[in-house]
Amino acid sequence: MDYETAVGSLFQPEGREDPYPAYDVIRAHAPAAPAMENQWFISSHALVSRLLRDPGLRVADKSDYDQFWPAWRENRGVASVVLSMLQTNPPDHSRVRRAAASTFTARRVAAMREVIAAQAGELIDEMPAEADFMSAFAYPLPIGVICALLGIPEGERRWFRQRAADLTVVLEPISTEEEMGRADKAGRELEAYFTGLIADRRHTPREDLTSALVEASDADDAVLTGEELLANLVLLLVAGFETTTNLLGTGLKILMDHPEQADRLRTDPSLAPNVVEEILRYDSPVQLTSRFATAPLDLDGVEVAAGAMMTMLLGAANRDPARYPDPHRFDPDRPNIQPVSFGGGAHYCLGAPLARLEAQVAFPLLLNRLPGLAPAGNPVRRDRLTLRGYSSLPITTS
Ligand code: HEM
Repeated sequence: MDYETAVGSLFQPEGREDPYPAYDVIRAHAPAAPAMENQWFISSHALVSRLLRDPGLRVADKSDYDQFWPAWRENRGVASVVLSMLQTNPPDHSRVRRAAASTFTARRVAAMREVIAAQAGELIDEMPAEADFMSAFAYPLPIGVICALLGIPEGERRWFRQRAADLTVVLEPISTEEEMGRADKAGRELEAYFTGLIADRRHTPREDLTSALVEASDADDAVLTGEELLANLVLLLVAGFETTTNLLGTGLKILMDHPEQADRLRTDPSLAPNVVEEILRYDSPVQLTSRFATAPLDLDGVEVAAGAMMTMLLGAANRDPARYPDPHRFDPDRPNIQPVSFGGGAHYCLGAPLARLEAQVAFPLLLNRLPGLAPAGNPVRRDRLTLRGYSSLPITTS
């Protein structure tokens, strides 16, 4: 495959099905390779890791959207993401992130272990002999966990799956007008839901994360504006489960494809942290993120102009042979697995400890409680580049 074909394939359904051959060609072409005018693909592990931590780079924030798409606030799906911390730069980012991190604490996450195990156990009990793993487990577990954290009642949880899926399309490099319309509708519905939840918790605080965030936003020094509170609650919900759903689905598929590794994990759950890191490296649920240069940059001899967009190919960096020998092999025994799947630097994933915990609890439990678990038909991938995962993964448990 030549370089132009590799780049083009990432924008085609067949190329997105398995982007790794194209990533290899792009990385071999140059660690910083031209994508489109004034846009670059960054694909080496060293460069992606370094640039994500470089304070000289910025994310596209509302001031950029005001310039290139003045009507962006009219699409509430786009607005939810742009107004969240994900697309905010310092000093606002540091303030919002501090407020969110002060509520999303290690203690609060660690306390979820029992909830995760109980919810996973119930889903396993209810699993039919023939099932779609995505619908029966990979979606409901992370939805249940993030809803439990936010204090969303159990009866309302199923409502979120389609809305989150519709909203996250705004993270893709290209989307259709119809998809953008659905993202707008999902954004409006999620905003309406959280507006009600915020009003309720302001009136009657509870022990949940929503109450803690409402309290932070109502502090005298106005740690969060009302608009920021709403957008970041939507972000926590959406970021909190589609990605983790993909980690669970992709991870199970990888384990079924490597039964010797599944057997080891079944008998020794202490292997779970390494297995989960290797799953994250081998097929990252988030494949890319973008940054902009605020000044001219020299990237290992490649001149990048101020204002240029750099697409960090996280999935390519995770399979860089310079960092991971024999990178296309799934091997949880690799030393020092440090995938860039959760990003790096100021925007490093706030939910990484929770996502890791869910997967570390779920996989050993699934393998032990369902020893007959095996593939039962062809899995179907979602046709997305940024959020990579399956739409269905048929399994049998008998
Ligand atoms: C940010 C991946 C689960 C909340 C990010 C970023 C990545 C990522 C790559 C950085 C994006 C960038 O730098 O532009 C993942 C993956 C997950 C996962 C692969 C699961 C396997 C979660 C969960 C939550 C969460 C469970 C919350 C409950 C967030 C938030 C940010 C973020 C709030 C924005 C942080 C900031 O901008 O400062 N995530 N995530 N994520 N993630 Fe996650």
